[in-house]
Amino acid sequence: MQTLLLTRPDDWHLHLRDGLQLSAILPDTVAHFARALIMPNLKPPLTTVASVLAYRSRILAALPKGADFTPLMTLYLTENTSPAEIILAKQSGVIHGIKFYPAGATTHSEAGVQDITRVWPILETMEKLDLPLLVHGEVSSPEVDPFDREQVFLDRYLAPLVEKFSNLRVVLEHITTSEAVEFVRHSSQKVAATITPHHMFLNRSALFQGGLRPHYYCLPVLKREKHRRAILDAAISGNPKFFLGTDSAPHSRFSKESGCACAGIYNAPVALELCTEIFSNANALNRLEGFTSFYGTDFYELRRNQGILSLEESPWTVPKEVSFGADHLVPFCAGESMQWRVKN
Ligand code: NCD
Ligand code: ZN
Repeated sequence: MQTLLLTRPDDWHLHLRDGLQLSAILPDTVAHFARALIMPNLKPPLTTVASVLAYRSRILAALPKGADFTPLMTLYLTENTSPAEIILAKQSGVIHGIKFYPAGATTHSEAGVQDITRVWPILETMEKLDLPLLVHGEVSSPEVDPFDREQVFLDRYLAPLVEKFSNLRVVLEHITTSEAVEFVRHSSQKVAATITPHHMFLNRSALFQGGLRPHYYCLPVLKREKHRRAILDAAISGNPKFFLGTDSAPHSRFSKESGCACAGIYNAPVALELCTEIFSNANALNRLEGFTSFYGTDFYELRRNQGILSLEESPWTVPKEVSFGADHLVPFCAGESMQWRVKN
C-alpha cells in the first residue's frame, strides 16, 4: 500500500456558511486543512470589518474540540466600501484579502460591484497596504454567454485592472479556461490563481450525463475538455502561481434538486483525496505538495505549516448524503469510490 506524506495543506477558497450549517460542515475541512481562506458571501454579506470579526468568532466557536485550524478571513467589496474600512481590515491582522464579486455573477453577489471604476480608490488603498484582491472573474451581463463569461471578464476588466494597479496582489479565483491560465502565466508575479478539484476533474459534459445534473453545477460553470486539460496542466506544472482553492460551496439537496438549482459544489470531504488521485493519474504526485501546501501560503506571505498529513492508497466510498444543519446535502462524488484516504 502506498503512503504519501504532505505538509498540512491550506484551502485558499472556501465557503463555510453560518449557524447550524457551519457547525455541520466545518469538521470536513478541519480534518484535512490547517487553514482556509473563508469567503464573505453570507446573507447579508460581510461588508464591514466588525461583521467579519464576529463571523470569525462564530467559526472559532464552532470548531470541534481540540481542532488545530485557523480561519483566514476576507471582506466583501462593495461600491460603498470606504478606504478607512480597508485600513481597518489590514490592521485587523486576520483579514487576508478583499473579495470582488461582479454584482449578480454568483451566489449572494447582489451587493457586489456594478461599475468597477467606482472601486478604484479602494484598489489604490489596497495596493498601498499590500492587501490582496480576490476576484470572481466573470462578467454578469445577461447578453454574454455563460460559457464565455470568464474570457470576457479578463479582456474587459482584469487586463486593464492589473495594468493600472501593477503592485496590487491579485488572485483570480477558481479559474476554468485556458485563457485564464495564459492570463495568469503571463502576468507579473503579483497575479496568481486558485484551482478547484472539480474543474481539474470534470468537463461540462458531466452536467448533462444521462440527464441534467445539478450537483455538478457551480460557477464559473464547468467548461469543455480542452479547458479542463489546461487547468489540470497548470495545476501539475509546478508553477507557484497556481494553487488549491476548493471553492467547496454547500447547498441543501432541496435547493440543488430544484427547478432553479443553486450554484455550488460541496467537495470538502473529498477535495484532498481527489487532488491526490488526479495528480497520481497524471504522474505528478511529486508536484502535489507545492500545489496543496506551499504556493498559496507563499503568495499570501504566511508561514508554511509545520504538521504532516498522511494519505494512503486505500479505497473508500463517498457517502450519498451528509447532514447540513437542519437539511441534508449531496457531496461531490457521492456514492463513488475514492482511491486515497487521509489517515487520522
Ligand atoms: C459559491 C457559493 O455557493 O457560495 N458558488 C459556486 O458555484 N462556486 C459562490 C462562488 O464562489 O461563486
Ligand atoms: Zn467560491
